[in-house]
Amino acid sequence: MILTIEDKIMVFSMYLNNEEEKMYQGEYGTTVAKSMEILIALGDIYEASSLVDITSAQVSGVSYKTIGEAGLEYLEDLSKEDVNLVSIPSTLNPAGIDLDNWRSFGFPVEFSKKQKRIVEAYGKLGVSETCTCTPYLIGNVPRLGDHVAWSESSAVAYLNSVIGGRSNREGGPAALASAICGKTAMYGYHEDESRVATAIFDLDVEISGLDYGTLGYMVGKEVGDGVPYFSLKNRSKSGELKSLGASLASSGAVALYHIENETPEYELAKNDNDFKTIERVKVTNEDILTTKENLSTTNEEADLVCLGCPHASLEEIKEVAMFVKGKTIKNQLWVCTSINIKASADRMGYTRIIEGGGGHIILDTCMVVAPIEDMGYRNIGVDSAKAANYVPSICGLNVIYDNLENLIKFK
Ligand code: F3S
Repeated sequence: MILTIEDKIMVFSMYLNNEEEKMYQGEYGTTVAKSMEILIALGDIYEASSLVDITSAQVSGVSYKTIGEAGLEYLEDLSKEDVNLVSIPSTLNPAGIDLDNWRSFGFPVEFSKKQKRIVEAYGKLGVSETCTCTPYLIGNVPRLGDHVAWSESSAVAYLNSVIGGRSNREGGPAALASAICGKTAMYGYHEDESRVATAIFDLDVEISGLDYGTLGYMVGKEVGDGVPYFSLKNRSKSGELKSLGASLASSGAVALYHIENETPEYELAKNDNDFKTIERVKVTNEDILTTKENLSTTNEEADLVCLGCPHASLEEIKEVAMFVKGKTIKNQLWVCTSINIKASADRMGYTRIIEGGGGHIILDTCMVVAPIEDMGYRNIGVDSAKAANYVPSICGLNVIYDNLENLIKFK
């Protein structure tokens, strides 16, 4: 391939400016050059015309359960030679263990040691070791219209839909390459034309709490990688939108949704001549109830109730604390969140209340990426449709999908 020294050059179908050319040619080292190769290859596949500067990255591919030995070796090799490579604020997705308390919670020893090496390798590269799928709750908060490269599907859905930032659903290696280069390929959800609605759903009933995850699961199956537009009868809470996006992204491949009069780009979603002609689907209470019933795989009680998918906010932890206050919990209870949110829960006294009832706030991990199938659990209670979707398929365990008031049993 012949590269020119002009201001903009063409590589495959993509133009690079002078700085990008230097990165690609290896002037900033081989890891930067290899990362540029990844971004250019992706851009070529999706016919991007250029790269775009990004303001943050969120990197998946962290749990030893998902990346295994090959991933561990790759990251340790990378971090051996190149330290602090990351050029923009970057955060990590959940790992397979509570990094601070894995021994006391009974995470397998060998697994835990390898998991810690993975996170340390990312840390050496400069990625913040805040292992969470809700980076927007801990300071990785893009502004409206910012281009970023995030890879956790639930976070991408929240980012595009609720915050109005712009990201495709990146794979882990692509997000890491973007974190290193500070760029991503300009295609897909970075462009206005991919952000218009492709399907409209009219709710004929008010919804709350668990209904949002259930609705997302149902609609995700129907729209695949489309962009659903919702007309709701009530206003949503932030945590409900977190659940909606997570389940849309798990049963389908949704990266963006709009809610009329709520989300920041719902007007843009209608900026398409086809909008008026899109078929409107009516969603009834019965649709939601039937979908909810079908998500559980057993009628037995949960031996482990696992909340916080996506990772719990301070408000959600407060809700659990208020529910269990002064009582003794019969099942095991994990509330999964980030180290940052737990610090606030500690200060507010919520941790003490939950632990007083026999529950635990678990850091850095969750019911899907932790090796819970090797920890003696059989029936997992979840209030997340995404978790209900994945626990049977990824962990091979039974799942009970319900709200926390029905899942948590007391002595
Ligand atoms: Fe997060 Fe795990 Fe759910 S990574 S979105 S808590 S499956």
